Amino acid sequence: MSKRKIAVLPGDGIGPEIMDATISILEATGFEADWVFLEGGLGALEKGLPALPPETIDTIREIGIALKGPTTTPKGGGHVSANVQLRQALDLYANVRPAKTLPGVKGPFMGHKLDMVIVRENTEDLYAGIEILPHPDLAQAIKVITRPGCQRVIRYAFEMARREGRTRVTAVHKANIMKITDGMFLEEFFKIAPEYPEIKADDIIVDNCCMQLVTNPEQFDVLVTENLYGDIVSDLCAGLVGGLGLAPGANIGDNCAVFEAVHGSAPDIAGKGVANPTALLLSAIMMLRHLGLNEQADQIANSVLRVCSDGKCLTMDLGGKASTNEYKVEVIRQCAPAAV
Ligand code: NAI
Ligand code: MG
Repeated sequence: MSKRKIAVLPGDGIGPEIMDATISILEATGFEADWVFLEGGLGALEKGLPALPPETIDTIREIGIALKGPTTTPKGGGHVSANVQLRQALDLYANVRPAKTLPGVKGPFMGHKLDMVIVRENTEDLYAGIEILPHPDLAQAIKVITRPGCQRVIRYAFEMARREGRTRVTAVHKANIMKITDGMFLEEFFKIAPEYPEIKADDIIVDNCCMQLVTNPEQFDVLVTENLYGDIVSDLCAGLVGGLGLAPGANIGDNCAVFEAVHGSAPDIAGKGVANPTALLLSAIMMLRHLGLNEQADQIANSVLRVCSDGKCLTMDLGGKASTNEYKVEVIRQCAPAAV
C-alpha cells in the first residue's frame, strides 16, 4: 500500500526546529507518510519566491492535508501574511483552537481544569485585507462579514460540540457597537442554535468575555467568534493553559485541512534549539484524529501528558531546562521506547 501523502510547510523562525521534532515523534510511533515538503515564509522570499508560492497552495489543495509551521509577517509594510493568504485561498473557514489544561504545567491558572475550544472564523472580517488610504492622514479598513460565512463557521462549532459531547456554545461578539456586521453574526447564531436543542447556546460581548476568561474560565466550553476576536481570544486562552508552546490548532475547510500551532515564528528564540514543539505536536495529533488514527493519536497524547506531569523534561517556556531535542527524545522514550 502506498504511504499517505501529507504536505509539510516547515515555515521559518522556530518552524523548522519544531517540525523536525514533531515528524520524528510521529515516525517513532510507526506513523508512515510520504511527507511532501513545501516552500513558504522567509525561506521562500530568500529564494526570490513569494512568501506563499502558488505551487505550495496548489500542492496542499491537491493533497488535502498539511502540517504547517509558523511564517513571519512584517509589521506595517511588507508582504501580506502567508497564513491569511493560505486560509483564504483554500477556504479554510474554521480555525479550531482547543485550550486544555495539561497536568503539571505551572502557571497562574494551575489548579484550574480548563477544556475549551475556540472556533474562529478564518476567512473574513478585518482580515479580508481591504485597507485604503484615501488621504495621508486617514486610514480605513473594511470589515467584511457575510451571512454564508457566519452560517458555516457557526454550524461547524455546533456540529463539533455535538460530536464531542460538549454542552455549551457561546457566540463572542461586539454587536452592541458593530450592529450590522457583528449583528449579522449574532442573528445567524441564534437562527442555527435551535437545531441543536441539547446544547446550551448563549452569547457574550468580547471585552466581558476576556475578563471572565481570566476570572472564571471553567464556565466556558465552545466559543465561536469572528476572525479578529478569535485571534486575540485564542492567544489569551493559550496563556490560561500554560502559554503558546502548548496551544494547537486546525484550519478546516470542506476539502482541505491545515494543522498548525496558534503561536508564531518566535524570532526571539529561533535557532537556539529551545522552542517547545508541543503545540505543533498537539496539532499533529489533531491531524491524526482527522485521519481517523485515534489509537496513534492517543499514544502520543498520553506520552505528552506523562512528560508534562512528570515535569523533569520541560522546555524553557514552561520553566524547565530541556532543549527541543531533549524533550523530543523524552516523548519518544515514553511512547515508543524501542525507537530511542
Ligand atoms: P509568537 O507567537 O511568535 O511569540 C510570542 C512569544 O511566545 C515569544 O516570546 C516566543 O518566544 C514565545 N513562543 C511562541 N511559540 C513558542 C514555542 N513553541 N516555544 C517557546 N516559546 C514560544 O508571536 P510574535 O512574536 O507576535 O510573532 C512573531 C512572528 O510570527 C510575526 O511575524 C507574526 O506575524 C508571526 N505569526 C505567525 C503565525 C503563523 O504562522 N500561524 C501566527 C502568529 C504570528
Ligand atoms: Mg494569532
